[in-house]
Amino acid sequence: PTRVLLLVTLLVSFQEYIVFTAKIVGGSFASLVYIFPPTGLAYICFFGLVVKSTIEEEILKYFSLAKEVQERAYVPYSNFRVGAVVVDENGKIYTGNNIENSSYSLTICAERVAIFKAISEGSRDIKTICVIGQTDKPISPCGACRQVISELAPNAVVYLSNRDMSRIIKTNINELLPY
Ligand code: THU
Repeated sequence: PTRVLLLVTLLVSFQEYIVFTAKIVGGSFASLVYIFPPTGLAYICFFGLVVKSTIEEEILKYFSLAKEVQERAYVPYSNFRVGAVVVDENGKIYTGNNIENSSYSLTICAERVAIFKAISEGSRDIKTICVIGQTDKPISPCGACRQVISELAPNAVVYLSNRDMSRIIKTNINELLPY
């Protein structure tokens, strides 16, 4: 029994170590508990796996917020919902979704709503823009939005996601509007 206790303690410590490492590198942790009772005694083994995500956890949080806002888009004409999140120099978060109009050119895109909300509240150096659509490929911002980003958020890191955040492009206005 002392040996079993020692083994379990060791394995638990190992698990703690993996969880700790996962936190440091900003990855996620997966574990598997395996119960092996050969002689009536249960041995518990832990297998740890540290997965370093390429997109920062913070960005994924912004995208889950963008997904919430996306639900509230006003899209009776296209039925295509877009959500956006903008983060300014003070870490303040602004959201936006697309709002359409029967006079189609009066439609405003999600990212412009979020950017205008931020600017109107005093933001002057937008750091991050996240946009999520309903396509299989990451969404592609329209020309007008690229122009607005160039004017009002030239330093922003821009993240463009597909419908389920399985494909996210990290870009910026120099790539989206090079000339
Ligand atoms: N739309 C956005 O809100 N953002 C984009 O980046 C692309 C397009 C909106 C405009 C319109 O309401 C609908 O998506 C279809 O084009």
